[in-house]
Amino acid sequence: MLNVVIFGAPGSGKGTQSELIEKKYGLVHLSTGDILRAEIARGTDIGKLADGLISKGQFIPDDLMIDILNGQIDQYPTAKGFIFDGFPRTVPQADALDSMLKRRNIRVSIMLNIDVDTNELVKRLINRGKTSGRSDDNLQTIHQRIQVYETKTLPVIQFYDRQHKHHRIQGTGTMEEVFERICKEIDSVIS
Ligand code: AP5
Ligand code: MG
Repeated sequence: MLNVVIFGAPGSGKGTQSELIEKKYGLVHLSTGDILRAEIARGTDIGKLADGLISKGQFIPDDLMIDILNGQIDQYPTAKGFIFDGFPRTVPQADALDSMLKRRNIRVSIMLNIDVDTNELVKRLINRGKTSGRSDDNLQTIHQRIQVYETKTLPVIQFYDRQHKHHRIQGTGTMEEVFERICKEIDSVIS
């Protein structure tokens, strides 16, 4: 089984690259942001909680996020593997993912860290905000998201470094160029 953690700051291209990986390698793409936005659209209790937090650029509590992801994995019993997009975002989530997968006798194969400088991130997200309708694609929330990423999410890199699973990917250039770099790293762990 091939299980990929796609990691990076807001706007680094996690969603874009996950779709390409999904097609090429036949994996199930689990985006916690997309899952939460679907809850918001359905008006569920989780959605109501997530709505306020996402628009402020704040995280959903770890325990709840871990439960949600665990439930999602169970929905795909025949999956060839997963792409975890936007999870883990904190060290407790990284720990929980390891345990969740261990219980199923599987593990994270590779963590791809898409590296893009802050100016480019802001430019991409402001641009997407013109059409995305996302409540967090405005300048104030974008800065907040990047700050939360730097304080809560960056330590996750060391977590995967210690397991020798962290691979840095240069995230600038065309989407195709980034994807080519990603495939090289994935192919190196499956061959
Ligand atoms: P989430 O939906 O995961 O948002 P994010 O991490 O802020 O990242 P984005 O989805 O905005 O960017 P992306 O990296 O996917 O880039 P994309 O491919 O879209 O999370 C949203 C919120 O949900 C969080 O802030 C939090 O509140 C909550 N949440 C989610 N997961 C959670 C968790 N685990 N725990 C707690 N809370 C959680 O690309 C961005 C733009 O750039 C697009 O317009 C794209 O077309 C463009 N682009 C992509 N690649 C390139 C390229 N190579 N060159 C030029 N432009 C490009
Ligand atoms: Mg995304």
